[in-house]
Amino acid sequence: MKIGFIGFGNMGQAIARGMTACGGVRGGDIYAFAQRQEKLKKAAAELGVNPVGSASELARSCEMIIIALTPDAVEPVLGLIAEELRGKILVSIAAGYDFERYEAFLPRGVNHISTIPNIPISVGAGILACEDRHSLTEEQYAAFEAVFGKIALIERVNAAQFSIAGTLGGCTPAYTAMYVEALADAAVKHGMSRKASYRIAEQMMIGTGKLLLEKDMHPAELKDLVCSPGGTTIKGVAALENKGFRGAVIRAIDAAEE
Ligand SMILES: NC(=O)c1ccc[n+]([C@@H]2O[C@H](COP(=O)([O-])OP(=O)(O)OC[C@H]3O[C@@H](n4cnc5c(N)ncnc54)[C@H](OP(=O)(O)O)[C@@H]3O)[C@@H](O)[C@H]2O)c1
Repeated sequence: MKIGFIGFGNMGQAIARGMTACGGVRGGDIYAFAQRQEKLKKAAAELGVNPVGSASELARSCEMIIIALTPDAVEPVLGLIAEELRGKILVSIAAGYDFERYEAFLPRGVNHISTIPNIPISVGAGILACEDRHSLTEEQYAAFEAVFGKIALIERVNAAQFSIAGTLGGCTPAYTAMYVEALADAAVKHGMSRKASYRIAEQMMIGTGKLLLEKDMHPAELKDLVCSPGGTTIKGVAALENKGFRGAVIRAIDAAEE
């Protein structure tokens, strides 16, 4: 399958990188179009994908088209090629563009699905929140799953939960990176090297997530497992609670949603 990106900035490139490095897609089967051709050619050369000169050329060349444009450009760019999108698998990652918003301006019968990826998709460990309402055929949905399921956990949610699911997966890598940085700062304060501190904190994040996911474990169960009575870990838990750790995290998600 030929896969095209309309818009090839940070997120478009992250998805293409994940596809070629971990998703079994050949760079030669990926096409990309963006506004500034020189910048596009440079990014395309780095990833070994094909730059194209117009959205129309991209639509003609590809069966699956990923809309990775800034929100303000979605309607002006797609409006010019609306008829050429018929029969294609349209996968949107544009912020604020849910199923209803596409239905309002695309011609009837264009097959599309709205999603929100997160940046770890570039290493094949992403999350793709996706709206359960879509207009892909069964066969097209299976193709979408086959491509994206190799580089992300696909989590289908209803329209009312689409935004919060995107926030939870998409914004939290920043908060998580801040947590890792803070853990490493603490270790450095206690005399460890920067490099080793980051390595331990990063692997701890991966391992904790993997354990919770694979064992389908409740987070509180894992916390309790690690906290022996009167031990060191529970003293740290109490210190975090004393500083409003959970409240601060919940407030961060509220702020992003607002
Ligand atoms: N970054 C994230 O973590 C993330 C997460 C989830 C969803 N998203 C969504 O993904 C979309 C892309 O985000 P991004 O971070 O990749 O943004 P970005 O780095 O600014 O990339 C936007 C791309 O759109 C192109 N573009 C803008 N206007 C255009 C036009 N009129 N014609 C053709 N191309 C045009 C840009 O081309 P030029 O650079 O050549 O101008 C660029 O390739 C956004 O809607 C964003 O909300 C991002």
